Amino acid sequence: MPLVTTTEMFKKAYDGGYAIGAFNVNNMEIIQGIVEAATEEHAPLILQVSSGARKYANTTYLTKMVEAAVETSGLPICLHLDHGDTFALCKDCVDNGFTSVMIDASSHPFQENIDITRQVVEYAHDHGVVVEAELGKLAGIEDAVKVADKDAAFTDPDQVQEFVSRTGVDSLAIAIGTSHGAYKFKGEPQLRFDILEEVARRLPGFPIVLHGASSVPQELVDKVNEYGGQMPGARGVPEDMLRKAASMAVCKINIDSDLRLAVTGAIREHFALNPSHFDPRQYLGPAREAVKQVVKHKIVDVLGCNNKA
Ligand code: G3H
Ligand code: 13P
Ligand code: ZN
Repeated sequence: MPLVTTTEMFKKAYDGGYAIGAFNVNNMEIIQGIVEAATEEHAPLILQVSSGARKYANTTYLTKMVEAAVETSGLPICLHLDHGDTFALCKDCVDNGFTSVMIDASSHPFQENIDITRQVVEYAHDHGVVVEAELGKLAGIEDAVKVADKDAAFTDPDQVQEFVSRTGVDSLAIAIGTSHGAYKFKGEPQLRFDILEEVARRLPGFPIVLHGASSVPQELVDKVNEYGGQMPGARGVPEDMLRKAASMAVCKINIDSDLRLAVTGAIREHFALNPSHFDPRQYLGPAREAVKQVVKHKIVDVLGCNNKA
């Protein structure tokens, strides 16, 4: 099976009340850990590449490794650009085999967001590629862009119908209180499910995307800290909230920080216990296994997309 778009995945996920995991990939071990987990759980998969990942690993390397994942797993896999910020970047991904792109023009005023998104949609759809866009602003850090808490803005449900009909976009990322990174909430975690509900009422059957959805499990943070890390106060989205979102209109849940924690904890632990090791396979192997275990847990216990491939 070749790389697929998200069209079919999202339709089934919406109707079935579950969500597809969209995992950020930056190197071979992360890709392999995710794909091994999805293969064992028969789960459809979105592998997403940020512009930072393209710079770090080279987009051709990443694309070829994702193609290898498709070939070896036989799973329905979508290759997605995460947070594309310009038409040129989205076009480059469309031209180079991605099956889905996100144009994130959410930092622009509403009309400009519409204009930029529509331009990407026209080009992508002409090439059989689907498009995710964003309305509202998440707080947190992505690549070099840091959105301060005071500049974050919830999605306004009054804008979503106009945005979707004027852009022709295939899915919409909304801001309901999640944020990027491992430090999401200072106090009690709270998500605006009322906004999600209202957006779903205005856009019946339309797939919604949740960014900033790592749950930052305490055991992963503890492991990093136990072996010399310093992440006091790291806190993510509780899993029951993610399960609730997945049962509603949210069809794609983005996870990156939890994989970073898994990799870092495994490598820190490995060196603490084996200070004389210097073969990268000795510590990247456990890191790959840690990614796999996190992704299996997400697929089965949070997203509910096991056995949906
Ligand atoms: O939303 C951001 C993702 O976690 C990607 O992060 O831009 O540092 O690769 P990155
Ligand atoms: P986390 O930082 O919560 O993993 O979010 C990742 C994300 O939204 C990627 O687009
Ligand atoms: Zn994101």
